Amino acid sequence: MIERYKLAERLMHWVAAFTYLYLLATGLAFYSPHFYWLAQVLGGGPTSRFWHPMIGLVFVGTVVWMWTQWKADMAMTAADAEWQKAIKYYVTHEDDKVPPSGKYNAGQKQFFWIMFFASIALLGSGMVLWFTDSVTWSLRWLRYASILLHVLGFLASVAAFIVHVYMGVFVIPGGLRAITSSHVPKEWVAEHHPLWLAEVEKK
Ligand code: HEM
Repeated sequence: MIERYKLAERLMHWVAAFTYLYLLATGLAFYSPHFYWLAQVLGGGPTSRFWHPMIGLVFVGTVVWMWTQWKADMAMTAADAEWQKAIKYYVTHEDDKVPPSGKYNAGQKQFFWIMFFASIALLGSGMVLWFTDSVTWSLRWLRYASILLHVLGFLASVAAFIVHVYMGVFVIPGGLRAITSSHVPKEWVAEHHPLWLAEVEKK
């Protein structure tokens, strides 16, 4: 067995997952009356409005923490460019035509960077929406820009999130085990991340 995620990494990941789900539910409730029932389930409109920005800070905190820990592993390499070119074979499960990947494949790295930049956009725009009264009327363009940026950050992150959960839970058996209980079998690493296996064995 090979250790893939340390305890702190797993804890941070699951705090990110649950805070993101809360933000998604309450954010949808503010966005459309069709989803307002979500806020009611979560304690009511005013309660959701109070906690949404606070929980948002916790979520962004976890993403920044991930960045401090994983940024080296998430850097794009020449091997990722090759993997990217062969993505159609990855999707059609023609694994023999997919170039080997390191600890994370190019798709996982792209997911990380989308979440990272979306979080920064959501934080910046969210602060303006949180303290709107402090933004003077002459700076109203900033309010409008923040609404747009918040929606764009939401759309980018939710699209990436759906693919991430689908891949992690349904497509790659064993990934969920890694992020819940730390270790993965050597055969799993050899199949999905052979360049990483070579690195681990060298150490
Ligand atoms: C219910 C929600 C979620 C589920 C089921 C889930 C599932 C997983 C799984 C199975 C892995 C391990 C993949 C592997 O090592 O091969 C993983 C890794 C990871 N997760 Fe999540 N995740 C969720 C939410 C999130 C959220 C909200 C973020 C926000 C930043 C996130 C960020 C990451 C990152 C950066 C990794 C490592 C790279 C990668 O595998 O993509 N996850 N997740």
